[in-house]
Amino acid sequence: MSDVVTKYTKEIDLRLTELLDAADTNATIKEAMNYSVSAGGKRLRPTLNIMSNALLGGNMKETLDIACAIEMIHTYSLIHDDLPAMDNDELRRGKPTNHMVYGEGMAILAGDGLLNYAYEVMLKNAMRYENNIDAHLKAMLEVALSAGIYGMISGQAGDLENEGKKLDAKDVYYVHRRKTAALMKAALTSGMMLCHPDEKYLEAIDTYGEDIGLTFQIIDDILDVTGDAEKIGKTLGKDAQEEKFTFVTLYGVEKSMQIAERKTQEAIDALQIFGDKGKDLAELAEVILRRQK
Ligand code: IPE
Ligand code: IPE
Ligand code: MG
Ligand code: MG
Ligand code: MG
Repeated sequence: MSDVVTKYTKEIDLRLTELLDAADTNATIKEAMNYSVSAGGKRLRPTLNIMSNALLGGNMKETLDIACAIEMIHTYSLIHDDLPAMDNDELRRGKPTNHMVYGEGMAILAGDGLLNYAYEVMLKNAMRYENNIDAHLKAMLEVALSAGIYGMISGQAGDLENEGKKLDAKDVYYVHRRKTAALMKAALTSGMMLCHPDEKYLEAIDTYGEDIGLTFQIIDDILDVTGDAEKIGKTLGKDAQEEKFTFVTLYGVEKSMQIAERKTQEAIDALQIFGDKGKDLAELAEVILRRQK
């Protein structure tokens, strides 16, 4: 992966390990939570959070726990997404899925555990930055709104409801914006919130987040058809098997790629307002478009 993707992974991984080690809970749940968090993963969302905070000169230490909490929420969503009742997947991050190892009940609880622990981590972090508490509240609200019923949950619900259906563009945009773009966008806006941004900066990062989030899921849909299973660490061809309604079923691979390219350009254009400082995020948008895993 490109340097821009791995720029903060060491700090993120170290802090995630520290936080999970510190969780004093049932041994099986702790192991199951750890299993999925440490299985790998690109750490894209926490990286977005830190980069967006850095855009306005933030202090990485202050946003690192928010970044890690977002990765916990993302990982919980993957554990639940893979359950037999949802996408029924056996491979994730190159390893057997959580429920294959710990059973469905424990996998559900490991997901619930990560989700709740994420908010505990963010709240405790906010309390350490008492002087900036309003900004932390706003950052946490961004995360809660996007991961919850207005964002990822409604997207995942739509994804399930749309199985086996042939719908139109607005439906696939609705689902992809919510199930994937929302949390990516919140990773960015929450990082920036700590720096008391002007509205114009928030609007720009919001547009960028929406565009790379959509691109990310379009490429995910494409890779499910054209990708290399070894690199991706997931079972391919699952969307067709589960009769998912995706960009590829609606537009085919080529046209989907064109849409992703257009969205990526729009994302990069939105960064203009940040001048040279937007360089890393612009590069990241390109990496997301060209990714093979
Ligand atoms: C997978 O996300 C879920 C989607 C939204 C497509 P990632 O591809 O970022 O998964 P990891 O974190 O790298 O495993
Ligand atoms: C997942 O979308 C989005 C989530 C919120 C987890 P997919 O179901 O397409 O993700 P993969 O392909 O299983 O990673
Ligand atoms: Mg899914
Ligand atoms: Mg899935
Ligand atoms: Mg997918």
